[in-house]
Order: sequence, then structure tokens, then C-alpha cells
Amino acid sequence: PLIKELFGFTDLEKQLARMLNLQKVIVVPGDSDRSDWVKKEMGKAGARLLKQLAHPRQVVAVAGGTTVASVAQMMTATAGLRETTFVPARGGLGETVELEANYIASLMAQKSGGKYRLMHVPDQLSDEAYHTLIREPHIQEMLEILRSARIVVHGVGDAQTMAKRRKSSPDLLEKLKEKGAVGEAFGYYFNAEGEIVHRGHSIGLSLEDLQSVETIIAVAGGSSKAKAVAAVGPVARPDILITDEAAARTILLDL
Ligand code: BG6
Repeated sequence: PLIKELFGFTDLEKQLARMLNLQKVIVVPGDSDRSDWVKKEMGKAGARLLKQLAHPRQVVAVAGGTTVASVAQMMTATAGLRETTFVPARGGLGETVELEANYIASLMAQKSGGKYRLMHVPDQLSDEAYHTLIREPHIQEMLEILRSARIVVHGVGDAQTMAKRRKSSPDLLEKLKEKGAVGEAFGYYFNAEGEIVHRGHSIGLSLEDLQSVETIIAVAGGSSKAKAVAAVGPVARPDILITDEAAARTILLDL
């Protein structure tokens, strides 16, 4: 805590929490755009938080991406998480397997000693396939488990970066630009005002479902994500944000 004080981090955290109207902000030093080590520090902070918040027989829903994956990597065997079930917040969103929510949920369970449930839903769903799948008993059961989630952990992405990473069509990239999309969180693309401008077709937790979740944790850093992080509030309604110094300073000073 002393070192944090010296660098003025507590102040940074408080200012950002006030500005973004969040319960709590945790800032780690550095810029995760430039060094992988900073993402690991965010991962550590996330893992520590999950340990602190642990509750018997809870469900924790997680989104995909490299940042939430680093939270998973940093988790360690924890008695309090043994009865926790980790589930993917949504089905496939076009990520490579290591960055998929399913994989990350299983990794969290493996590292912490908890349990997991997977949801196998392909990413390119036609309307017809979507409506058939959603009636499947396995999917219905998973949705019920998902909706009982006590904690949600999700990343936040820059809109263009995410659309490209998911190999979206040139049409979609153009549409996102036209609509002023700045950010993305579990498949929802949003503008600087925090309005949804596009949603990926997938099954899982919807934004309405998030209202019954006790604690929503967003983990995202790097100055390239500043705009996205600043606008995610109205979309995912995070209670706690774990970010890095670069994103925090950019949001406070440059946006
Ligand atoms: C996706 C999540 O998999 O990763 C999103 O569904 C998130 O919620 C994105 O915005 C962030 O990825 P990264 O790699 O920048 O942490």
C-alpha cells in the first residue's frame, strides 16, 4: 500500500471510480499495450478479488479474451472456491479456443479447485439454428445456471480490434465505424455514450440478466482501450473495474 501511495495510485483509483461512477477501481502500474507483465498484474488483482469475494456454492460467469484469461492463469487452489461453478457468460463469439469463455471457465476451475460447466454453441448462428438451439434442454439448463450467477468477470475490448480479431466481414467493420463503435464487451459493441450499436449472435447472459448479478467485475487496461473502458458503464454496469495506469490516466486526462 505504501508504494501505491507514493505513486499516487490510491488517488487515481478514487478519481476514476468517481468519474465512472463505480463502487471500486483497482489500478496496476504500467501499460498492458506495451508489456505483457502488466496484464499479468491485472490478472493477479482479479484472482485476488475472486478469492476475497468467494461464497459457498456460487456460480461465477466469465467472458473470453486475453485479460480474463490472465485472471484464470493467476488463480491458485482456494478452499473457498471449491464449491464454485465457473461457467461461460456466452457461447462462441468467434475467438480462438484459448480465448473462449468456455476454455477460461474450465481453466479457472482447474486452477482454483472449483467446478465448471461448458456451453457448446457455435459462433455463426443463423436465426433458424438459434431458435432451435435455444430450445435444447442442455442449453435451457445452462441458461438457468448462468442466470443464477453471483459474479460476472468480463473483459472490455476496443471495437475495431475485437471485430478484426473475430474475423468479422468488411461490412461489419464499416458499420461499426459508421455507428461510432468504440468498445466491445461480451459480444456487444457500443459507442462513446455507452449505447449498443451492434450485438454478436450468441446464446448466453443478456444485458438484462446482468441486473440480478451481485458483483460484475470488468478487467481491461492499456491506453488503446481507454475510450472503451470509459463507455462500458451503461452497457455492462460493472461494480468493480481492474485496469492499468495507462488506461486510467488516459481516461482522466485525455478523453
Ligand atoms: C472477448 C470478450 O472474448 O474478449 C469480451 O467476450 C472482451 O468481453 C474481449 O471485450 C477482450 O479481449 P482482450 O484480449 O482484449 O482481453
